[in-house]
Amino acid sequence: MHALIVVAHHDPHSLTHGLAAKITEGITLAHDTDTFEIADLAAEGFDPRFGFADHAVHHREALPPADVLAEQARIDRADALVLVYPIYWWSMPALLKGWIDRVFSNGWAFDFSLDKPFVKKLQRLKVHLVAVGGADADSFRRHGYDEAMTVQIDHGIFDYCGARVISSQRLLESETLDPAAHLEAAQALGQRLFARSGETAREQADAECA
Ligand SMILES: Cc1cc2nc3c(=O)[nH]c(=O)nc-3n(C[C@H](O)[C@H](O)[C@H](O)COP(=O)(O)O)c2cc1C
Repeated sequence: MHALIVVAHHDPHSLTHGLAAKITEGITLAHDTDTFEIADLAAEGFDPRFGFADHAVHHREALPPADVLAEQARIDRADALVLVYPIYWWSMPALLKGWIDRVFSNGWAFDFSLDKPFVKKLQRLKVHLVAVGGADADSFRRHGYDEAMTVQIDHGIFDYCGARVISSQRLLESETLDPAAHLEAAQALGQRLFARSGETAREQADAECA
């Protein structure tokens, strides 16, 4: 099994990068043969700006630009896609949003055309989301940010393309709490990344109750 871990943070010393490192540590601890690749979007200089070439892809008038094809190939090689990112304005950073805008293109992530039925093309992909936020859980709940993020990201992006969100966690109070618990959670995610793969948390819970 192979995981692509996408990190969207400019600072290699950030908690976000620390969490990605812990996920890889967990994978290595739990699985002798499983592999991973880190996609460090900031260090690699991924250009998140959606431009004319991307729009031509959206209209199915051109093939994706080389940088987008390279990202799609990385995802095609992976069984699991893990996104690790700080929460900016109750969503993902622009760098990661632009990666999704450009890489999850019409013709690759889904098929949309006027004369054929819509097709979700990422059914084989299992997704894990790790979002790090400064606010506390009560703020997320009271204002509806929890639900907003789930609807917009888990459902609006990944369900839209047929990919299965196996786990989605928000690690909160990142600027005020001791990060140890978050780092531990990240390592635990790495350790169970390929365990009983193919089942969502709900499916696993159902199986355990049956
Ligand atoms: C531009 C910006 C916007 C932010 N917006 C939010 C937010 O909407 N909700 C939240 O909980 N934290 C927010 N934060 C706090 C970050 O999520 C927090 O700084 C980050 O999780 C810390 O992890 P890091 O060390 O990896 O940067 C924001 C921070 C920045 C810089």
